[in-house]
Amino acid sequence: MIPIVRGCAEMTRLARAWRGAGASLGFVPTMGALHEGHLSLMRAARARCARVVVSIFVNPLQFGPGEDLERYPRDLEGDRDKLAAVGCDAIFSASAQEMYPPGFATHVSNERLAARFEGALRPGHFRGVLTVVAKLLHVVQPDVAFFGQKDAQQALLVRRMVADLAFPVEIVVLPTVRAPDGLALSSRNAYLSAEGRARALGLSRALTAARAEHARGERRAAALLARARRELEEPPGLSVDYLALVDPETFEDLERCEPVGLLLLAARVDGTHLIDNALLGSPAG
Ligand code: PAF
Repeated sequence: MIPIVRGCAEMTRLARAWRGAGASLGFVPTMGALHEGHLSLMRAARARCARVVVSIFVNPLQFGPGEDLERYPRDLEGDRDKLAAVGCDAIFSASAQEMYPPGFATHVSNERLAARFEGALRPGHFRGVLTVVAKLLHVVQPDVAFFGQKDAQQALLVRRMVADLAFPVEIVVLPTVRAPDGLALSSRNAYLSAEGRARALGLSRALTAARAEHARGERRAAALLARARRELEEPPGLSVDYLALVDPETFEDLERCEPVGLLLLAARVDGTHLIDNALLGSPAG
């Protein structure tokens, strides 16, 4: 049975003992309801590090009023079984009380990178994410931490925090894992009806269409975005929250996709907010 560690001090003691014995430590932070996307991060951590810790914590700080904190899927025992199949040395699953004891008052934020896209739609979300990731990194003290590219803005914010505040950890960002029909895996896909799920395929279709346009030589952002938008709006059924082509390092809008651009999109399907992204081009041009 994979041990479940509930206390911050206990987690730090365990991590220090492993590292003191010379083991490299990999860390995968999650909110649970694990799917193949998380498991691909676990496998990468396993391949790279002698010990692997996963955290499972539905972080109240990153949910706004009226968001899905209460109904966010939780299945610790199911997650434990999935983790046993890929190999994991400890699950760090603290309570909100343990993570945010009375008097907790310090937060980490990046107003500039969090001002747009997910940050604009979900005020306070990235402050909650950065605060919990900072705390988790201090508690677990890993050598390497693994994140998914599906949450591209989150991954950029975490990389920026780690660089700006000199956290002694390497951040690895791994590609989005998709269902065979193209839908990016997300714990929130569980909210979709069969019919909603079919409509949600508009997101990955939009990325594929923009990629094809790019492969044909199109570099103008306006044309690439128009192609993606056509796919999102036809057939109707998705409500587009944002669609943009940005510099992957700054999230500033691009006019041309040269040499690379990150196509970001978000849409709502029956009230469920879904995000996806694709890198167009390669740094070599
Ligand atoms: O991506 C997630 O699941 C969460 O935002 C994270 C990084 C575990 C922080 O709560």
